[in-house]
Amino acid sequence: MEKRPKIVTVLGARPQFIKAAALSHVLKEDFEEILVHTGQHYDSNMSDVFFEELKISKPDYHLNAGAGSHGAMTGKMLIEIEKVLEIEKPDFVLVYGDTNSTLAGALAASKLLIPVIHVEAGLRSFNKAMPEEQNRILTDHVSDLLFVPTQTAVEHLKKEGITEGVHLVGDVMYDGMLHFSGIAREKSTILAQLNLQEKQFLLCTIHRAENTDDPDKLKTVFRALGKSGEQIVLPLHPRTLKCVEEYGIPISKNVRIIEPVGYLDMVRLEGAAKKILTDSGGIQKEAFFLGVPCITLREETEWVETVENGWNTLTGTSESRILEAIVAFDPKTERKHPFGDGKSAQRIRDRIKRVGAGA
Ligand code: UD1
Ligand code: UDP
Repeated sequence: MEKRPKIVTVLGARPQFIKAAALSHVLKEDFEEILVHTGQHYDSNMSDVFFEELKISKPDYHLNAGAGSHGAMTGKMLIEIEKVLEIEKPDFVLVYGDTNSTLAGALAASKLLIPVIHVEAGLRSFNKAMPEEQNRILTDHVSDLLFVPTQTAVEHLKKEGITEGVHLVGDVMYDGMLHFSGIAREKSTILAQLNLQEKQFLLCTIHRAENTDDPDKLKTVFRALGKSGEQIVLPLHPRTLKCVEEYGIPISKNVRIIEPVGYLDMVRLEGAAKKILTDSGGIQKEAFFLGVPCITLREETEWVETVENGWNTLTGTSESRILEAIVAFDPKTERKHPFGDGKSAQRIRDRIKRVGAGA
């Protein structure tokens, strides 16, 4: 049998598992894929649950490089990924999104002159204080194949002089949503478990460093949630839990904090929510895919199309803006879909194949 080209995929954080769930099995049809889990996310409800329920292959390597400062974490990943690349000698290294795992994977490969594939390239918030913005820019600039989800992302890359190797393929998270939303409806029992009725509650997530690391901002968000009087379900990221405890933030009775949930439960909660409040990148898009109004607890977003379409509003962490949006934000406009046709994964696979064949 002909030897198949080898891709080492580096991942490590929750949103990357969800993106890999859409792409990995498609890649495996034509490539040998070696999965490297950096260990950035390590709790079982932040990692194992996704591999199990989304049927992602077990990682071939686990680097245990989570926690610590940005430099310590990224440095440890870089050292360990380099070792794996020296052993595996892949034809390509593939990374997703904008986390420290993304940057470490891209940098390790680039230094060894292994072509870098960046899935979800070209996103920009234009806020360089965000670690994610630094990771995206740096990763894009060492990437050889840049798979971009939207035309906006193509334009961002062009402005930075990146035009070679850029392919507009749509969003793999949309592929994933199309595939898994029916399964979530069938399998998830989360609404019954939490005794929730469709469209009778708001769903909230908050974990971005810019919000969690500032006690005033985090307190204000929780105060606004409390004052809204709405039933709010909040699967809490471990980072935020630590901060809530450390700052001694009081939680109102109407705010129900639960542990992070698996993707199928999350999609079910998202679809049943009246509105979603979040600072997550992925969840802004999922709200849009599902037609649920999204209130984004940030001052800017990479996913500008969701705002332009009228289904996402930016409130930052202002109490009055959050409360106003909870009461009054009620989009009715038709959603014009800029995120592809649900076949991004196949396009990515086909393009890598052509590049591998020298086309
Ligand atoms: C990271 C990404 C962020 C992404 C998010 C997805 C970077 C710089 N940030 O942020 O872009 O939106 O993942 O969720 O890469 N922790 C646990 N258990 C875990 C994981 C984390 O307790 O399984 C705690 C640890 O205290 C850790 C802290 O959360 O130090 C932060 O984790 P880290 O991976 O550094 O950043 P995230 O906030 O998760
Ligand atoms: N998600 C999940 N369980 C949760 C919270 C989020 O499965 O408790 C999923 C969510 O549906 C989305 C992804 O995780 O697909 C988003 O990840 P996160 O918000 O951690 O990161 P971001 O997208 O902001 O980088």
